[in-house]
Amino acid sequence: MTKKTKPWDGRFEEATDSFVESFTASVEFDQELAKYDIEGSIAHAKMLHKVGILTGDETKEIINGLNQINDKIVKNQFKWSIALEDVHMNIERALTELIGETGKKLHTGRSRNDQVATDIRLYLRNAIDKIQEKILELQLGILDIAEREVDTIMPGLTHLQIAQPITFGHHLMAWFEMICRDHERFQDCRKRVNTSPLGAAALGGTSYPIDRELTAELLEFERLSNNSMDAVSDRDFAIEFTGAASILMVHLSRWAEELILWASPQFDFIDLPDRFCTGSSIMPQKKNPDVAELVRGKSGRVFGGLITLLTLMKAQPLAYNKDNQEDKEPLFDSVQTILSCLSAYADMIPAIQTKKDNMLKSALSGHSTATDLADYLVKKGLAFRDAHEVVGKIVKVAIERNIDLGQLSTQELKKYNGLIQEDLDLSLEGSINSRRHLGGTAPEVVRTAIFAARRRINSAS
Ligand code: ARG
Repeated sequence: MTKKTKPWDGRFEEATDSFVESFTASVEFDQELAKYDIEGSIAHAKMLHKVGILTGDETKEIINGLNQINDKIVKNQFKWSIALEDVHMNIERALTELIGETGKKLHTGRSRNDQVATDIRLYLRNAIDKIQEKILELQLGILDIAEREVDTIMPGLTHLQIAQPITFGHHLMAWFEMICRDHERFQDCRKRVNTSPLGAAALGGTSYPIDRELTAELLEFERLSNNSMDAVSDRDFAIEFTGAASILMVHLSRWAEELILWASPQFDFIDLPDRFCTGSSIMPQKKNPDVAELVRGKSGRVFGGLITLLTLMKAQPLAYNKDNQEDKEPLFDSVQTILSCLSAYADMIPAIQTKKDNMLKSALSGHSTATDLADYLVKKGLAFRDAHEVVGKIVKVAIERNIDLGQLSTQELKKYNGLIQEDLDLSLEGSINSRRHLGGTAPEVVRTAIFAARRRINSAS
């Protein structure tokens, strides 16, 4: 019989099959949690001391040992062992090897089930804080460029067809609104992440006189989980996180698509900084918007994370099941992916160079002031549906003559409808400035929106 070496193998007669050992191990990826595992263990040890389970000396030994292990891990000098399955047992065994018998007392009154739930929550809380910082950086970058481009006229599109003139500043502020909702979603998710499961032990709690409030306080959790079975098996917070991350990626990929279109020679509205683009190995003329394309592409892996977690949790009976070990890789990957996409955008977006003449030229085509002409006729007394019909006919004339509606003189327009007079203003500026209500594209309104946005950000952070 092969030698038994596991911390849990008292009842086993046979050693674990070597395939099963690597199949069930998580240490290759959950070592990412080491820092939080150690923080959780230190809090647990302090609590065990306070309730009289560990002596002062034992507690000191454990804490010193854990800190030394942490140093080794940070310096990449720690030897992780697959045979010890996961981050928790690797650290616990290293502690016992380092400080001797006292190390074996650390696991009193807890289980890896509440331990791992604690670790992921600490990891995710920290990740959300980093994400929120990046979102803030991006928000400020968007506000800067929106301010610069508040008067830049461009065509607003629906169905990717020219619809009405807008300003680039207004368009950018639409992006800003999307990312503000992302920030809110992560903040809301953080509340539920920040709940302490410690004390739930394997599933039913523990018979030791533990102090759950103390560990929660030491780890800065805002509340305690109310039910030990729920505490060890709940991964809603991870699903919520990947849900929020997926919606964020929907937004970033929509912006990516717009950036790619605008940077194309067909649109030619913007120039992306060279440092964010790459060339082609065969076509010397190419400058490809790779960063935007990759952000668009990376949305797939984040959506994948959400689907993985939903599927992982679906139909799991209470309480902990080994399935849950599969929660980590999608979670870590989503965190890394959105952090890198946010960093790229925070740097790239404020550095966009606009080609104002091309934007303007485009807005001057596509009969973008047709709605303004219809609205003018309504203000002169025509019913909107009739006005729509009149303008449609005029647009048809412009199309036949291969000119834009805006190129028809007032004199000429009068021929199509007697209500048209000299006071008609079909200029792009006129169109934009007339949309001056809250949420409209008029530069003066957008300026106010930017000002309000800065105040909103300052009060939120
Ligand atoms: N590596 C495990 C996980 O990630 C830790 C918890 C193991 N618990 C157990 N009862 N086997 O979920």
